[in-house]
Amino acid sequence: MSDRVMWFNGACVPWEDARVHVWDELALRGANVFEGITAFWNADEQRHEVLAGDAHLDRLYDSARVADIPAPMTRAEVFGALAEVASQLGGSDIYVRPTFYAKRGRSALAPDSEGAMYIGGFPFRPSVPQAVRAIVSSHRRFGGPIGPHAKSGGSYLDFRVFERERVEHEVEHVFFLNDRGHVAEADGAAILLVRDRRVITPSVDTGVLDSITKRIVLDLARGLGYEVEERPVLRDELYRAQVVLAGTLLGLRTVHSVDGRTVGDTGGAETAATLAAEYGRLCRGENPLASACLAPLR
Ligand SMILES: Cc1ncc(COP(=O)(O)O)c(C=O)c1O
Repeated sequence: MSDRVMWFNGACVPWEDARVHVWDELALRGANVFEGITAFWNADEQRHEVLAGDAHLDRLYDSARVADIPAPMTRAEVFGALAEVASQLGGSDIYVRPTFYAKRGRSALAPDSEGAMYIGGFPFRPSVPQAVRAIVSSHRRFGGPIGPHAKSGGSYLDFRVFERERVEHEVEHVFFLNDRGHVAEADGAAILLVRDRRVITPSVDTGVLDSITKRIVLDLARGLGYEVEERPVLRDELYRAQVVLAGTLLGLRTVHSVDGRTVGDTGGAETAATLAAEYGRLCRGENPLASACLAPLR
């Protein structure tokens, strides 16, 4: 059992041996797209069950198309490599991060264009902070030709600025607004607002990554008879709802304050708790929706 595994262009290698050249497009222009994926250990079956694996690979290939990075492998080969990483990590829940990157070629049309791939893998032990405080960043996020729908390393450069604000304000999360001042997303998570039995989330046209965890939670919410609204969200709505974050690494995380204002006495706590419990059950195959989301990784 290892505490980190690296698969690099064809095989698992010692972590230190996964090297790229500084003149690779990966380093020169940040040309990479990636996914963060979880797989849960099923002790009865002695295998990993990957959560929404097809949706993650769809998004990986879509991101590569948008960022014009040639996909280096077929889906079956990517799943095979993920299974190799999973078997090296052994019998625990795991987080795997496949990345496609451009080695050479300023676009996929360049004659010397070449795509490549690596996967980092780790045991998955989500942290559960006692209180989750968030602020809204003083910076707004603008979309470029690649934009936030593609999960590209280049677009995550913005997050260095958000992370600095997060540390300076001594909070757990930073939310950011889009160029029109609407709520977009958080660092590493989609934002959901829960009011009574209503779940509201910024629509994809407000410039957010179309979070796979959020999609699963919205399906759970509909199944439980809650109302779901996807629409532009105003900043002040954050102060008038139970705010919940959704992301592969975080799972579902309840937010206790935004911009120093305590949220949570706004009538959504019970709904948020039910959704978190059902999401946890789904990851263990104990919710009926699990059959559509979990698949053996092998
Ligand atoms: C900016 C951003 N938004 C949302 C998410 C959540 O997306 P997902 O649920 O697909 O992990 C992430 C997670 O990687 C993210 O980085």
